[in-house]
Amino acid sequence: MIKFQILLVNYWSFIYFGMLNLKLMKFKTILLVLALVSCQKEEPLKTGLIANNGMVVSAHPIASQVGLDILQKGGNAVDAAIAVQFALTVVHPSAGNIGGGGFMVYRSSDGEVHTLDFREAAPGKANRNMYIGENGMVIDGLSTRGHLASGIPGAVDGMVKAFEKFGTLSWESLVDPSVKLAAEGHILTKKEANGLNSNQENFLKFNTLPPEAVLKDEWKEGDLIKHPDLASTMIRIRDEGREGFYAGETADLIVAEMERGKGWITKEDLASYQAKWREPIIGDYRDYKIISMGPPSSGGIALLQLLNSMEPYPISDLQFHTSESIHLMVEAERRVYADRATHLGDPDFYNVPINMLADVDYNLYRMSDFDPANATSSETISAGESMMESEETTHFSIVDSQGNAVSITTTLNGGYGSKVFVSGAGFLLNNEMDDFSIKPGFPNMFGLVGGEANSIQPQKRMLSSMTPTIVEKDGKLFMVVGTPGGSTIITSVFQTIINVLDFGMGMQEAVDAKRFHHQWKPDNIFMERGGIDSLVVIDLEAKGHEFYQRGSIGRVDAILILPDGTMEAGADARGDDVASGY
Ligand code: DON
Repeated sequence: MIKFQILLVNYWSFIYFGMLNLKLMKFKTILLVLALVSCQKEEPLKTGLIANNGMVVSAHPIASQVGLDILQKGGNAVDAAIAVQFALTVVHPSAGNIGGGGFMVYRSSDGEVHTLDFREAAPGKANRNMYIGENGMVIDGLSTRGHLASGIPGAVDGMVKAFEKFGTLSWESLVDPSVKLAAEGHILTKKEANGLNSNQENFLKFNTLPPEAVLKDEWKEGDLIKHPDLASTMIRIRDEGREGFYAGETADLIVAEMERGKGWITKEDLASYQAKWREPIIGDYRDYKIISMGPPSSGGIALLQLLNSMEPYPISDLQFHTSESIHLMVEAERRVYADRATHLGDPDFYNVPINMLADVDYNLYRMSDFDPANATSSETISAGESMMESEETTHFSIVDSQGNAVSITTTLNGGYGSKVFVSGAGFLLNNEMDDFSIKPGFPNMFGLVGGEANSIQPQKRMLSSMTPTIVEKDGKLFMVVGTPGGSTIITSVFQTIINVLDFGMGMQEAVDAKRFHHQWKPDNIFMERGGIDSLVVIDLEAKGHEFYQRGSIGRVDAILILPDGTMEAGADARGDDVASGY
């Protein structure tokens, strides 16, 4: 039925804009007939896993199972999240990490909200010109590959701080599953095998000593992979907590790796790193309360800005993936990403105008020049190759039997981060330094530009787009949501929320729905290949939009609380993502 409605809307909007000609009409009439026929055959909509007591949705079936085991042993959502974060390091090394960082949004069953920033920070020796050569040009690849690309890892301290405040089971019991997975090995999925295969050259090129555990002529689905060095690191983290990573043998191995590879992370950098509890970003959208991550992530503010911008419009009447609704959402995205580039950075170093950006009237003002008939042009820049890098971050959503909820997005930045394994410690280091604005106006690997707010300074955190989010309705938990996807994270979370709140979709349906993305610069709509009806595309092109087709956008893992109190998972089939519940 949906397809039929979309075509009908297109049909009328073409008449409205006087673009109809006989040939087109014939084409459309045929399509309408085809749509009517295909309507009858349409597959029933997919519903995600339904659970009564607890749910874990993550990027990997083994990690989801590890989280579920913790919930079933009586652990709460934070206990499960800690175990999942560590398990993903082993089974999903392209993004799961102890060598990277992330953000956690937590809402307790009685409505208390806490947000934790365990984002990486720039090493003490870092400076704003560190990626710029003598000719004043950015040195290609220096912020994305190899030892100089890494910020000081934040994930382990993040898990320790989350545990200290909210953990209920023993720390050892949360890390131990990952010790076992690393020592005894696990079976590779097809996607993981492909990921390892396509990075063999990188692993050899960017490592000072060969990372034996991941090297192989060809990995295949079903192969057993073991990580003995990582198992030893996990044992140190299990037995010594924070000190097992930021001091002692692990710290020695990280610093030795840095010295061999001419990186800048020192023992002092590791010793001084602290994850931080931050003020959550909270705002309203229609009847819902949105709780998300504040700076140094841009995600929460940008998400609120996007939702604020939608508030005056009858978006549910405009309907899913019509040219009218896409145009409206894209125009909001364009304006919000322009703000992001200028105003957002680490709040400990830059005065981020949070109140202004999150203000409803400000966003209405920003949309006041929105033209329903025409695209607004973004000023063009030489954006270079954007969004071509393989993208890997990972998100997981957890709700426990009490109704406590955790939304964590965590990353090494690019797939397998800097590609550098800490030799002897068996884990990958991030390439998060590329999330700084390495030169004003120079696009990072996601095509995002920035300026002073996000310039490099020692110990400063690089700006993120990660948007772990929790939605409340009538004072009760309603949705837990988030995704990887670099610059597309914010728009994917935005669209998933709109899909449920305005387009009436279920959780799995909202996650499955195709996505699109605009980030101000470059000035085009990225859309998942074939993701928008071709007539809608034609209509949007007539308004002045340009399209760029690409592979999948995001991997949203989310949980929706249904009216009867059960929960529906949305696990993104774009990845190996799986929901486990009970
Ligand atoms: O923090 C950020 O916004 C980026 N480092 C996230 C990277 C990412 O999502 C890559 N993958 N999908």
